[in-house]
Amino acid sequence: MLKLDGKRILLGVTGGIAAYKAAELVRLLRKSNAQVQVVMTHAATEFITPLTLQTLSGRAVRQDFFDPNDEASIGHIDLARWADLILIAPASADFMARLAHGLANDLLSTLCLATTAPIAVAPAMNQQMWLNPATQANNQQLQARGIKLWGPDAGEQACGEVGPGRMLEPSELLARTAKQFSSQILTGQSVLLTAGPTQEPIDPVRFIGNRSSGKMGFALARALIEAGAKVCLISGPVALTTPAGVTRINVDTAAEMQQKVAEHIDKCHIFIACAAVADYRPQTIATQKIKKNQAEIALTLTRNPDILAEVAARDTPPFTVGFAAETERLTEQAEEKRRLKRVDMIAANLVGAEQGGFEKDENALTVLWEGGSKNLPMARKEKLARSLVATITERYYAEKHPTKDS
Ligand code: C5P
Repeated sequence: MLKLDGKRILLGVTGGIAAYKAAELVRLLRKSNAQVQVVMTHAATEFITPLTLQTLSGRAVRQDFFDPNDEASIGHIDLARWADLILIAPASADFMARLAHGLANDLLSTLCLATTAPIAVAPAMNQQMWLNPATQANNQQLQARGIKLWGPDAGEQACGEVGPGRMLEPSELLARTAKQFSSQILTGQSVLLTAGPTQEPIDPVRFIGNRSSGKMGFALARALIEAGAKVCLISGPVALTTPAGVTRINVDTAAEMQQKVAEHIDKCHIFIACAAVADYRPQTIATQKIKKNQAEIALTLTRNPDILAEVAARDTPPFTVGFAAETERLTEQAEEKRRLKRVDMIAANLVGAEQGGFEKDENALTVLWEGGSKNLPMARKEKLARSLVATITERYYAEKHPTKDS
């Protein structure tokens, strides 16, 4: 069965007889473990009741900017950010025209303008309406803007005519939704990934650690699996479940992480160092618990190996990606780190700010490489990870491997 574990699908339903099929689509998406938020236009409610779609999706259907009955309902910008994919099914000729012209005169069209998520439309209309040059021009404009056109099918229509304009069947829309999250762009490529913090023992009960939760690294591991890569994840101590398909190796200290990376590095095409490795470790580890019988104690710390720099310095390094968590002068410091460590790419993020960074569910990244950069805006770490994997893949094929199959 197709799995959409936790993916957030914003299903837009517009006015047309095919709206009744949205019920089956919601059911299939939910069965694949997706979260579904239905947003209906007013015309859609003439064809199918919000209650039907609410019951099947398990969420209150949204129609208006603000729901006066629900103070907790999230605002339109948050809803636009919530979505991993906006799927409009069925998409009427009117809605496609409004989307093509960037109108924002109802909730659904506004969400489409405000989102950074991919948008797919599944047109459903009378065949003459579909073939009309106005609809075709809108259609081309939408596709030129990167909006995905799923369908329409040709065949018998509700109005009795035969021709193009039937909405794709819900099972086909489900398959396309699943494919949207499984790009296969890294099929045949092996990725070694470090994640989480390291813990450097002081005595049998204490350690030096940091605030890394491992969320970004684990989200990356999952996005890499979705991209078709073989993923080995070397993780410090975190409270996260391993994404399906990922081989996980647990470590505690930087030295253990270094050793495990050395064991697996030869087999990988891409190395991503997402771990927040402790820069120093106690020079000696007390064999017994240190007692608090002195007013002051001093710890002598020794530098830990820089795992990423070591990998990048190999004779034939894989494509190397590092992270830089900075509290100020983000781009400048990250660029310096990229050059010093001689890595192919650095993903920099601000820590200590109100939004994003360690332990948070959201983050924003500035990705730097030789001669280029890209800003990945604030988003949930799962979504951000998918954008980062797409950026890494693009540079990986461009810089190291001119073709996907080389
Ligand atoms: O030097 P800094 O710790 O800021 O560099 C961060 C990047 O280097 C991250 O990608 C991190 O995983 C990696 N790193 C490492 N080994 C270390 C320290 C950092 O691999 N000892």
